[in-house]
Amino acid sequence: MSILKVKSLKVENQNYPMGMDCTKPRFSWELASDGKNIVQTAYNLIVINEEGKRIADTGKIDSDESIEVTIADLKLEPMTGYMVQVTVWDNEGNQAVTEGGFETGRFETAWKASWAEPVQIPTKASNLGGNLTMESVLENSNSKKERDFSEFQPAQYIRIPLKAKKGLKKARAYVTAHGVYRLEVNGVRPDDREFAPENTSYAGILQYQTYNITSLLKGEENIAGIILGDGWWTGRVGMTGDSCQYGETIGLLFEAILTYEDGTSEVVTGEAGKSSTGPIVFSDIFVGEKYDARKEMQNWSCPEFDDSKWKPLHKVEYPMNNLVGQYGEPVRPIRIFEPKEIIETPIGETVLDVGQVLAGQLEFTIDAPEGIQIKLEHSEVLDDKGNYYNNIIGVNKEQTEIYITKEGKQTYRPVFSYHGFRYIRISGWPGAISVKDFKVYALSSEMRDISEFTTSNLKINQLQSNIWWSQVSNTLSIPTDCPQRERAGWTGDIMAFSPTLCFNRGANTFLSRWMANVRTEQLENGAIPMIVPYLEAYKAMAKNFIGSDTSCGWGDAVIQVPVAVYKAYGDKRILEENYTAMTRWMNYIADRVQNNHPEGYEEWDDERKARSHYLWNTDFHFGDWLVPSMVLGNPDGMAMMKTAYATMAFVAPAYYAFSAKSMVEVAEALGKTKDAENYRDLYNKIREAFIKEYVHDDGTMDADLQGIYVIALKNGLVSDEVRPKMAAHLCKMIEKNRGCLDTGFLSVLFILDVLCENGYRNEAYKLIFQNQCPSWLYEVEHGATTIWESWGAIEEDGTVSTYSYNHYAFGCVGEWMYREMGGLKAAEPGYKKICVAPALDCGLLFARVSEHTPYGIASVDWKLENGKAEVKVEIPVNTTAEVILPGMDKIDIGSGFYVFEVKL
Ligand code: BGC
Repeated sequence: MSILKVKSLKVENQNYPMGMDCTKPRFSWELASDGKNIVQTAYNLIVINEEGKRIADTGKIDSDESIEVTIADLKLEPMTGYMVQVTVWDNEGNQAVTEGGFETGRFETAWKASWAEPVQIPTKASNLGGNLTMESVLENSNSKKERDFSEFQPAQYIRIPLKAKKGLKKARAYVTAHGVYRLEVNGVRPDDREFAPENTSYAGILQYQTYNITSLLKGEENIAGIILGDGWWTGRVGMTGDSCQYGETIGLLFEAILTYEDGTSEVVTGEAGKSSTGPIVFSDIFVGEKYDARKEMQNWSCPEFDDSKWKPLHKVEYPMNNLVGQYGEPVRPIRIFEPKEIIETPIGETVLDVGQVLAGQLEFTIDAPEGIQIKLEHSEVLDDKGNYYNNIIGVNKEQTEIYITKEGKQTYRPVFSYHGFRYIRISGWPGAISVKDFKVYALSSEMRDISEFTTSNLKINQLQSNIWWSQVSNTLSIPTDCPQRERAGWTGDIMAFSPTLCFNRGANTFLSRWMANVRTEQLENGAIPMIVPYLEAYKAMAKNFIGSDTSCGWGDAVIQVPVAVYKAYGDKRILEENYTAMTRWMNYIADRVQNNHPEGYEEWDDERKARSHYLWNTDFHFGDWLVPSMVLGNPDGMAMMKTAYATMAFVAPAYYAFSAKSMVEVAEALGKTKDAENYRDLYNKIREAFIKEYVHDDGTMDADLQGIYVIALKNGLVSDEVRPKMAAHLCKMIEKNRGCLDTGFLSVLFILDVLCENGYRNEAYKLIFQNQCPSWLYEVEHGATTIWESWGAIEEDGTVSTYSYNHYAFGCVGEWMYREMGGLKAAEPGYKKICVAPALDCGLLFARVSEHTPYGIASVDWKLENGKAEVKVEIPVNTTAEVILPGMDKIDIGSGFYVFEVKL
């Protein structure tokens, strides 16, 4: 007889989410059993409110559903805590129970608080994006002039008195800001979140955070202390480093609700606060922070502090319809560690090597006399001689902290700034310096690490680690391209990377939240901007430089990101929520295609004209961005643009087909049969038109580039007859290219699959083990600890260049490695059905891949020994799997542990 356990009862995929503005939460739980072939046969969900009243009881429902479960007619009250209990039954007659909970947000409850602002000097708005040129970027970066940052404004410190009576039962603070803020109550932070209210498209979505402050209130007199900084609101952000993307002044929205045992409650609002400036002389989220420890105000957020000289906040009017409770986990320190070493560089500078490229902050502790200025400058690489090298060029890209000491022992970590770095040049440090004086804080949006991938090849393992680090560095609040130069929500990057991201960490709440921003930013004509949040500076830049807000592959993120989430986690709601946005995007393309025509169109015959109505052959596109052969050794912006112009005409129509094909899947998943049929029809028409227009009978195309063939093959844009010729031609091109890939942003994600699907598995393995430039292992062999923006960012001769060294896009190969080399695939969305098919012939001696699926851990652990392979498989309860091994018929299995032996 087996034993059944049920655990991890989650609400909206989180453990006890607080302040969630979601009226129809989804519940999920995991089952564990020591038996085999165990499935859930029934469940019973009960929801109990704070008063202990049962507000929902589903009764015993015969169902194997254990994820994405909703309760019909569930009526939730705002700002209320709920306990949830699930009882499950399995096919062996076992029963098990577990509990979880959540607390709702404000829903539609009107705020009693108003926006309040401290007395301040507004930040001057810049408009560099409007007139930025390559020359101005270089001029600024090469300037040796020491900046005084006098145009930067200080952080504001705010005190709000919170009077509490006896018999306090529950206290909550609902807080958000224009800027970024940090809350303390009586000197204690309620949690360790960073950069609240985080980075969203503020005009449409501004998150408020909910804090449980009950235990922080002591007696009658209490103080809520808030530090308020520039953040993404007035700070200098994005590629252009422009300030004031949303406003010129920073402000606070604060409401605390104190509930008493006798049922009464009191509301305290932020307008009652007073403000002053303090030790944070300025704090820009990109540029850095200046901190004068001599200006610290002991106990400033405690009742006893004298604030008689502080100035009252004043009320200001702002729309309140953009406010929504934070959805998903906050940004937090996810790793804290000691740096690797301190180097004295050949030119005699002191540089700290933390040993890992990452996004985060450096903390130091020092015992010093008063008034010493210490400077910390951050970068990602050293130059070929081992000297400090600033790889991030541009306006407002200093990545520098300036700290002025107070007397005695002191510890400092920036409050409202973070950087992308591995190396820190330290100047002004008094006395001896040791790694022990420092701590590195890697920051990221908190997500569960759900995967493992270890193999017999150390370089492949390092590649896996590099992907993980680029992922965590670029999932700080939103998915970004890089954590230093732009930190922008480039839609194309996440389009390519989302399947890998979803495999590595539990990213559904993170990506669902970002998709809400995508919907908010969707233009009236249905276009999805190439960057979300779509900053004003980027709008200006897009207009001036390329004349377009969107691009194929980038805008397609509106479809591909939800699809990746659905496949990884079985999350259908992300498809539902974004379905309208997806169809609007498809209609936008259809409109471009039907009503805009390329040059020469008027002279075409009717057949060609008709065909053109299915081909996206106009508009600007980034195309197969960064084709290595066009950019390697040529790191200037114009070379990058060359890849766009050389490929866009072929990539745009092919990606239209890709999206039409994906829309068939989405519509089918949502039961929209008619739509699915229409999209299938559209796909077939695009396919037919593409083949006629671009594909020659010998399998070549006029744009004779690897990436173009890869995209065409992956999306079926070739007849069955010509397919083998095209695949063979692609392989020949790889061979001619010294066995190296030559694919950009929109084709790298497909290349290895295309080779495998067309009978060239060995060629795929050769590419993954390749160590010549460009290749993944070239980067590893050249010391990479993250994925680079350009494959040759460090050249063969050691020359380093001003690329980003932390761009996850080309790390999209991760998903292929886990799926094909490790052999663990989701045969159905969310791994309800699993396919085990390890590549025992890929050149590894062993590989272990595991994924904490929504149902529990699935793993494949294989090794070769004495002409045999041993394959250990673990399948979670409530799922099934098919096992495909060489020389054996397909085997269907249920949950449990299995060991297979394969003769090779
Ligand atoms: C970013 C990319 C982005 C691209 C658009 C770059 O500056 O860093 O990753 O997708 O521009 O082509």
